[in-house]
Amino acid sequence: MADKIQIFDTTLRDGEQVPGCQLATEEKITIARELEALGVDVIEAGFPISSPGDFLSVIGISRAVKEPVVCGLTRAKQEDIDVAAEALRYAKRGRIHTGIGSSDVHIKHKFKSGREQVLEQGVWAVQYAKSKGYEVEFYAEDAGRADLPFLAQMIEAVIKAGADVVNIPDTTGYCLPHLYGKRIQYLFDHVSNIDKAIVSVHCHNDLGMATANTIEGLVHGARQAEVTINGIGERAGNTSLEEVAMILKTHQDLGLHTNIKSEKLYGISKLVSSMMRMPVQPNKAIVGANAFAHSSGIHQDGFLKHAENYEIINPADVGVNSSSIVLTARSGRAALKHRLEVLGYKIEGQELDIVYENFLLVADEKKQVNDQDLEVLATNIPVLAR
Ligand code: KIV
Ligand code: ZN
Repeated sequence: MADKIQIFDTTLRDGEQVPGCQLATEEKITIARELEALGVDVIEAGFPISSPGDFLSVIGISRAVKEPVVCGLTRAKQEDIDVAAEALRYAKRGRIHTGIGSSDVHIKHKFKSGREQVLEQGVWAVQYAKSKGYEVEFYAEDAGRADLPFLAQMIEAVIKAGADVVNIPDTTGYCLPHLYGKRIQYLFDHVSNIDKAIVSVHCHNDLGMATANTIEGLVHGARQAEVTINGIGERAGNTSLEEVAMILKTHQDLGLHTNIKSEKLYGISKLVSSMMRMPVQPNKAIVGANAFAHSSGIHQDGFLKHAENYEIINPADVGVNSSSIVLTARSGRAALKHRLEVLGYKIEGQELDIVYENFLLVADEKKQVNDQDLEVLATNIPVLAR
């Protein structure tokens, strides 16, 4: 039996921190409902103390969804936890996500404190959050750069204090995948009560390794992945939900699965992109405009012979209608012939050669040749001397 990975979506918290991506409460509720339909296990609905809008959004989302756990972020401070507890009061299942820095750089330069004090503060925050009657997740901020024995000590202490989930964030996107995996393994080997909590991975994409790091963390025993739609998030973004879901679906040999209904991925990607006014890069894995587009002659020929020559995912599995063949000056005769046939023109032999030559002239000029151009080319073949 494959192990279930909990998908913790933070599009509405870490994702929404992106400048220009702020949403109104109604928009957040719309996205939260779609996340529920997608099958996520946890929705991080906001950081309730940060603004009245975020507070109201956490209330609204708590009322709107039934299945997922609704989570509110806090610092390790009494007022944050009080406000989060208040905002979560309508949640069927609520979770307070509290935490504190764990790396020396954060301890010294952000908290101007010492290891012992932050550890104490973290333990206190977990106990206080727990006293509110919610599930508690603890984040050890900047765990990717923390001293490992100290990180293990902190995680052991917060689990003892009652944390149900322990989040090991690579806050700055610093870790190499194999080393992040080793960090997670280290915690399993050195934290005596690690079996009493779910280990969560939360990776940022500063070096383009967020997804790889998340997968390494899961391979080494983490059972919750913190992700966002389209990978949006602070700076270079967070791990993208659609990538993790499709990696686990594609590589069933990993023995891990999620509840994500993958055929909804493309639709929710579009929704988030348009509501947040944040375009998706065309070459984005899974949901980018070119993710299932074939444009070079060699690839088009191979794809038309057998889709699996160049596609490892069936586009329908992620909600994309079909693959596309883009006709450019790099396209070959096979793709041109195929598209002409789709348009109702069966052109072969010498006639196809002529159309292809003319097609290349148009393609060099226009970059991309559309169906109207093809109609003109197909209906203007000179009569051949026989
Ligand atoms: O990146 C991070 O460390 C975070 C925490 C607040 C969980 O977003
Ligand atoms: Zn983060």
